[in-house]
Amino acid sequence: MFALIFSEKIQLSPDSVVRLPATSYFLTMRVPKSFILRRTYSAKLIVMSHMQTTETKSQNLQEFFGKQWQIYQKMLDNNYMGHREIYNILHEFLINYFQKPFRMLDLGCGDASFTSQALLNTNISCYYGVDLSIPALETAKENLAKINCDKTLISGDFSQLDSVLELLPENKFDTIFMSFALHHQHLEQKYYFIEQFHNLLNSGGVFILIDVVRQPEEDRDTYVRRYLDIAKQDWSLLTQEDYSMVAEHMLLSDFPETQQTLQEISQKIGFIKFECLYCDVLNTTQLLCFYKG
Ligand SMILES: C[S@@+](CC[C@H](N)C(=O)[O-])C[C@H]1O[C@@H](n2cnc3c(N)ncnc32)[C@H](O)[C@@H]1O
Repeated sequence: MFALIFSEKIQLSPDSVVRLPATSYFLTMRVPKSFILRRTYSAKLIVMSHMQTTETKSQNLQEFFGKQWQIYQKMLDNNYMGHREIYNILHEFLINYFQKPFRMLDLGCGDASFTSQALLNTNISCYYGVDLSIPALETAKENLAKINCDKTLISGDFSQLDSVLELLPENKFDTIFMSFALHHQHLEQKYYFIEQFHNLLNSGGVFILIDVVRQPEEDRDTYVRRYLDIAKQDWSLLTQEDYSMVAEHMLLSDFPETQQTLQEISQKIGFIKFECLYCDVLNTTQLLCFYKG
């Protein structure tokens, strides 16, 4: 696990390993005890703790932020996944639900382009973004510049959440947010994450999930085929090569659940209310809220 932190002043734990990105490789060095980094322009620091990033993870990362990231950007620019509508609803929700200052943990934040817009004019006091990708976090930092709150960006694997949280001064949040990142996990992992989120939320807090969701009775393969048919028909600005990469990614990595399964998880874990704030007309994507009592 490694972390990229942007913050005013960082106390590193002894024996942390710092990795400094140098274009396509990393420079690794040991941090002396009581090392303190003061921000001059913007601190860029990747802290490795005890855990190793697996080779597969870093391969996925490189792949995602090679050609695939450009394709994802094209999809966002053309609103192929409905970000504009969904994040407008999210913006309204954040304004209305959080009347007091609130702390947000955003897992798989990517470049935070839409999240930063959704956070405008809200009462956000602290934002923590976690992503595997350093280039995405560099862009996230620029996108979040317009948001007036404390911001910490961590390059880490959210499946190692405990280690990520060790880096933070406080581990309670008013909202935990995941957008198009949970569906890569298998069902047991999803359950485990959502249970952890319940523990990490303050009372009255809410886990907000934006994700692809299967229709009732629709199995995973049928969902993937249906989604890819929609993409083939409607995503006209993707090249054949782009489309093939999207298809390959979905076939390998997408495991959406039905709304009912997510609601059952929510009830079993003890969230007091589960609500769907948005479902797109094609029945592929939803914005779901899990409320903690
Ligand atoms: C489809 S993008 C979504 C980005 C953004 N949340 C959005 O809605 O546009 C998925 C993001 O999750 C990140 N991601 C996937 N698995 C991750 C993991 N295990 N730990 C941290 N980030 C992860 C990817 O690097 C990528 O930025």
